[in-house]
Amino acid sequence: MDLKIQSFEEYQSKYKQSVEKPEEFWGDIAESFFWRKKWDKVLDYNFQEPNINWFVGGKLNITENALDRHLPERGNKLALIWEPNDPKERFIRWTYRELYEKVNQFANALKAQGIGKGDRVAIYMPMIPELTVAVLACARIGAVHSVVFAGFSAHALADRINDAQCKMVITADGLNRGAKQIPLKRVVNEAAEHCDCIEKIIVYDRLGWAPQMKEGRDVWWHDAIEGMSKECEAEVMDSEDMLFILYTSGSTGKPKGVVHTCGGYMVYTSYSFQNVFQVGESDVYWCTADVGWITGHSYIVYGPLISGATTMMFEGVPTYPDAGRFWQVCDKHGVNQFYTAPTAIRSLMSFGEDHVLSYSLDSLKVLGSVGEPINEEAWRWYHIHVGKERCPVVDTWWQTETGGIMISGLGAHSPQKPAHAGYPLPGIQPVLLNQEGEEIQENEVEGYLAVKYPWPSMLRTTYGDHERCRVTYFSHYDGYYFTGDGAKRDENGMYRIIGRVDDVINVSGHRFGTAEIENAINMNDHVVESAVVGYPHPVKGQGIYAYVICETLPETEEQEDILRAEIVETVVEEIGKIAKPEKIQFVPGLPKTRSGKIMRRILRKVAEGEPDKLGDTSTLLDPTVVETIVATAL
Ligand code: WT7
Repeated sequence: MDLKIQSFEEYQSKYKQSVEKPEEFWGDIAESFFWRKKWDKVLDYNFQEPNINWFVGGKLNITENALDRHLPERGNKLALIWEPNDPKERFIRWTYRELYEKVNQFANALKAQGIGKGDRVAIYMPMIPELTVAVLACARIGAVHSVVFAGFSAHALADRINDAQCKMVITADGLNRGAKQIPLKRVVNEAAEHCDCIEKIIVYDRLGWAPQMKEGRDVWWHDAIEGMSKECEAEVMDSEDMLFILYTSGSTGKPKGVVHTCGGYMVYTSYSFQNVFQVGESDVYWCTADVGWITGHSYIVYGPLISGATTMMFEGVPTYPDAGRFWQVCDKHGVNQFYTAPTAIRSLMSFGEDHVLSYSLDSLKVLGSVGEPINEEAWRWYHIHVGKERCPVVDTWWQTETGGIMISGLGAHSPQKPAHAGYPLPGIQPVLLNQEGEEIQENEVEGYLAVKYPWPSMLRTTYGDHERCRVTYFSHYDGYYFTGDGAKRDENGMYRIIGRVDDVINVSGHRFGTAEIENAINMNDHVVESAVVGYPHPVKGQGIYAYVICETLPETEEQEDILRAEIVETVVEEIGKIAKPEKIQFVPGLPKTRSGKIMRRILRKVAEGEPDKLGDTSTLLDPTVVETIVATAL
């Protein structure tokens, strides 16, 4: 079960082997898992349709690997530590046996509520241990989970429920977020009005509120598990049966349901978890992400548990009750591996060093970063003040679609360079492509980041729309998976991710399509048209800058402010608070080409505060529009 590489030399030889004999390489790794039936063939694929099959013919249940398999030797080992939002509330620690029982019990409850193999279940929950139970209980019975981050609005939730035709929603009365409490059931009730597919809603009582419950449809979690057995036979799944759907944004307006399957996802999340974080048997590992994102799926729930590690979940936010909370929690639970996002680090940096210096942080061994490029300043702060220059920082590049970490250091076993994700994990074959789609072989270059060979946890399709998967990821460059990112390779072959080259904005590590935000803004009755771009933001990485054309241009600053507030409110309703535009500029027109295409390049330059670098504007239909935009830029 130990899949850890122990040195850079070993990394190099493993890497070589993985490229020369990929099927042998992955077959060996897959041997260390528990399969009900071994695969007949390691890999069968083409990138044209695409059609990707790993561990073909293999049978398994991922929860038998995450739970049952550990019981003989790790039954009394901590599987899950939960730290609440309020430091004064009691934390929770569950052993592997306890987690096993809770998952099985809830799995039986799901069955009793009519859920079976292949049914889709939406999960819209706070960061409480029951979220992990809900996810694993679905996997136990072969139901497909679709976790929706609890910051999304009722509209966004309804869209996702409808797209996957979920029969059930699992939620809670509400959630704690710092000093605030947010009603979740109320949001679900509103969403459910637009979702005919929902048959049942299970509600966990987190806050002791009394939300509106609909007779016959809504069931309290505690009632649902009442009398249920703590043993539930695991559903035997095919390697390529769907494990979950997770919605993510792309360059078109509608988020897509990325589909991951059982066998490959199991193998890759555990393999990458062990190697990147180098977690030892008695270590405590903490990833601060929300389970609503892929990071939480792969590196709070599945990767750590399949590996038999102790994983911590945190309900709160980095700044509550103060900006020392992360470090207080690290000391409190003796955290050894700590994995967070650059936006969190930059935000904490702005509160000064005192908060971090008042904790010992002696237990830390490895620090991780994910979600967006980490700038050198944040990297150094993290390395010096949190890691005391003792802990390697693994900058992990990957995506919802890749399922697991692709390019990253392996604990202390890789050379480090600030702002560089570094080298690909063995088994991963990234390439840089030029404008013509040809592979750039040499180093000290920049290009489009693509992957030329499959890996076990890659997406298989986008739910209900396979063509969209093909067009988005496999049609730009024939024979490659296209990431949407641009990257550099330095003189030693280390990768540095530059950022998205498509119309995707990365705000605090969360992805939004510009079209998605424009659609939301356009829902406001006053709005005629809008164009959204990203601009550099000191804490969030990128901020959202919206250019908006209204029926009548607001005349006073007061009118502008009222309208801005209304537009922000519309976006909050359509998507959620996380997608709020930072800046809204009212404009009389947008820079368009004669064919009607918005020239975003120009809008980006204005938003970045570089109106002197607009480049060629001669192809514009009306170049004077640009002058007005520059003159009134925010
Ligand atoms: C996009 C994927 C994968 C977990 C969180 C985000 C950017 C992610 C890094 C990194 C530079 C990164 C990329 C990627 N990204 N990690 N270490 N360095 N950029 O998942 O929402 O699917 O977003 O996040 O642009 O394409 P996601």
